[in-house]
Amino acid sequence: MFDVLGLAYEKAFGASETHRASLAWLLSELPPEARVLDVGSGTGRPTAAALAAAGHQVLGIDVSPVMVEIATRQVPGAEFRCADIRTVVLGDESYDAVCVYFSLLQMSREEQTRLVAGLSRAVKPGGHMALATIPVDAEGVEVVFMDQPVRATSFSRDDFVAMVTDAHLTVQSEHTLVFTPAHPGAAAEPHLFLHCRRD
Ligand SMILES: C[S@@+](CC[C@H](N)C(=O)[O-])C[C@H]1O[C@@H](n2cnc3c(N)ncnc32)[C@H](O)[C@@H]1O
Repeated sequence: MFDVLGLAYEKAFGASETHRASLAWLLSELPPEARVLDVGSGTGRPTAAALAAAGHQVLGIDVSPVMVEIATRQVPGAEFRCADIRTVVLGDESYDAVCVYFSLLQMSREEQTRLVAGLSRAVKPGGHMALATIPVDAEGVEVVFMDQPVRATSFSRDDFVAMVTDAHLTVQSEHTLVFTPAHPGAAAEPHLFLHCRRD
């Protein structure tokens, strides 16, 4: 699906003020030249672009070769790799921060839970994780997203927060909103952003 969407995804979602505010929070917490992992890095904008422009070492991982090609072109100051994050081996306590913006939704709940726990272990104690998702109690639901059929799985707000907390992350702030993508085939959707600190 994301191979098909490519830049259209950025056009529809890239203007989110809450996403930009989340990046501003992360930038205010990071030490100089921090190592940051961006999971499901998409087109590289706004996340990797904002972090790389501030002098941080960003590794973006995305399973879509089209997204990786776009991100590599748009954000030459960051590194991007095409891989399924579920299979990537990450060193413990090797990143100052990890970003997970809307990249969990095509995984089962068990996979999301296992991945968030593994990503949390990859963050240095006292480091940070920013997560964003669609806080809806839905499992394997067929939806049409930007004119594309796709299966989606997520958690309610309370269950998502519990999953994150169980992964040894402390939620420092939380932001919810209803976002309307700038695309005729995309409906308004609830967004949940969590700003967390690794215990
Ligand atoms: C909804 S887009 C969000 C892109 C970006 N994080 C943003 O917020 O602008 C989700 C991205 O996660 C990627 N993705 C989904 N599942 C993945 C997986 N298992 N491993 C790596 N990337 C994945 C998709 O290819 C897509 O680029």
